[in-house]
Amino acid sequence: MKGVVLAGGLGTRLSPLTRVTNKHLLPVYDKPMIYYPVETLVKSGIEDIMIVTGGNAAGDFLKLMGNGSEFGLKDLYYTYQRGEGGIAEALSLAEHFVSGDKVVVVLGDNILEDNLSEAVQKFEKQKRGARIFLKEVTDPQRFGVPVFKNGKIVNIEEKPKKPKSQYAVTGIYMYDSRVFEFCRKLKPSKRGELEISDVNNCYIKDGSMQYDILKGYWTDAGTFDSLLHANKLAALKAESS
Ligand code: DAU
Repeated sequence: MKGVVLAGGLGTRLSPLTRVTNKHLLPVYDKPMIYYPVETLVKSGIEDIMIVTGGNAAGDFLKLMGNGSEFGLKDLYYTYQRGEGGIAEALSLAEHFVSGDKVVVVLGDNILEDNLSEAVQKFEKQKRGARIFLKEVTDPQRFGVPVFKNGKIVNIEEKPKKPKSQYAVTGIYMYDSRVFEFCRKLKPSKRGELEISDVNNCYIKDGSMQYDILKGYWTDAGTFDSLLHANKLAALKAESS
C-alpha cells in the first residue's frame, strides 16, 4: 500500500500568509502543517510515501523533511504540480509512484485524531474499490457532502448550497489502482479543477465505494477560521499526551 500527501495548490484563501510560502509549511501549533498528514500515514503503517507539492516554496519541503528519517522512513518521494488544476490532477501525478498498488491519499491540510491502521488493514482485504471517511460537521456546505439512500451513499455533492446531509467527506481517501483511469476521464468543474468528488462518484456508480465515520476530531486548515481551529486542537492534543 502506498501513501500520497497532496500539498499542491496556491492556498489563496489564506493570502497574505501564503503569498511567499506554501500553505502546508505554515505552523499548526508546534509543527508545520505537512507533518500532520505525513504522521497520519506513518502511524497507519504506510512506509512508501510521496508528497505532491507545487506553487510557492516547493523546494522548502525537501529542506524541511529531507528523506523522511525524522518520521522513521527510509525515504520520502516528491513530485511537483504546476498551477492549481485540482486535487484529482495532483493525485494523477503520483501514478507511476503508486504503480498498480492500492493507495491511501491524505490532503495536506487535513488534521485528524484517529489512527487509521485498522481501516488500512480492512482496505488491504477489500478486493477492489475505494473507502472514504466521513465526519459530522456544522458547515457541510464547505465540503464534499454525501447523499444517502437506505444507509448507502448514492452521490457526493461538492460544496452544495443546500447540503443533503450533515456529513463532510474528509480528505482521506483509499483507492485501488483504477483511480488513475477514473482521473483520466474527468472534465474540469465550474471552478476549473479536476474534482476528487467526481472521482469518488465514479466508485459510487461502480458500486464499490465503502465508508467509515471518523471517531476523533477532524478539521481542514485552509481558511483563517479552520487554521485557528486546527491550532487549538493540536495544542490540546499535545497538552493531553
Ligand atoms: O478537506 C476536505 C475537502 O477537501 C473535501 O470535503 C472536498 O470534497 C474537497 O474538494 C476538498 O475541498 P477544498 O476546497 O477544501 O480543497 P482545497 O482546494 O482547499 O484543497 C485541499 C488540499 O488539496 C490542499 O491543501 C492541497 C491539495 N491540492 C488542492 C488543489 C486545488 C493540491 O494538491 N492541488 C490542487 O490543485
